[in-house]
Amino acid sequence: MSLESVRNAYSVASEQYISLFDGGWQDHEDDTALVRRHLVGLAGPVLDLGCGPGHWTAYLHALGADVTGVDVVPEFIAHAQATHVGSRFQLGSMTELNVAEHSVAGILAWYSTIHLPPPELSRVLSVFRQLLVPSGMLVVGFFDSDSGVSEFDHKVITAFRWPVDVFAELLAEAGFAEAERLQHPVAERPDREYAAIAARRA
Ligand SMILES: C[S@@+](CC[C@H](N)C(=O)[O-])C[C@H]1O[C@@H](n2cnc3c(N)ncnc32)[C@H](O)[C@@H]1O
Repeated sequence: MSLESVRNAYSVASEQYISLFDGGWQDHEDDTALVRRHLVGLAGPVLDLGCGPGHWTAYLHALGADVTGVDVVPEFIAHAQATHVGSRFQLGSMTELNVAEHSVAGILAWYSTIHLPPPELSRVLSVFRQLLVPSGMLVVGFFDSDSGVSEFDHKVITAFRWPVDVFAELLAEAGFAEAERLQHPVAERPDREYAAIAARRA
């Protein structure tokens, strides 16, 4: 999946995606607790990479994080800036940021790596590591799988499911030490089980 195809697909679907958050946003309490535990109270900047309409950025900002939301889709950034006044947003790709190496205390990548084909994911995790200060924290959310890495027909554009152990191995290979993981079987959509891992830059 090229970056351009991901951007175009989300641009086309942006109104529909944004409308998912119209009535207010509340993620699963386990997810928000995980994100809070690892990304709030850090001594330094936090990036919400692939922030979409900006709800996580606003959430972290409200909790005092020095956070910037970054997304490659102009419609999302325009919406985020208009809706979450006071939070900071930037249009751009998470792999081409004008940010000094080893200057970021925390990164949230909540479902923003799901469209990366397997060989690309490792490269992007290494980019995240390069941005982080020593012991900086990364929290990633992704679709879980119990049958290997597999492609599926995500509503916007093809995405990948990852067995949580395989994702954890990639993180270790990229130079992260796992701190915590959580898994959610989604009863009504067993094809959409999801997981999250918090990992520290080793
Ligand atoms: C499934 S959405 C998740 C959005 C948001 N994090 C959330 O939890 O709702 C994936 C997001 O990642 C963004 N994205 C994908 N690749 C990106 C890249 N290289 N740089 C910045 N954003 C990217 C997409 O534009 C989209 O907003």
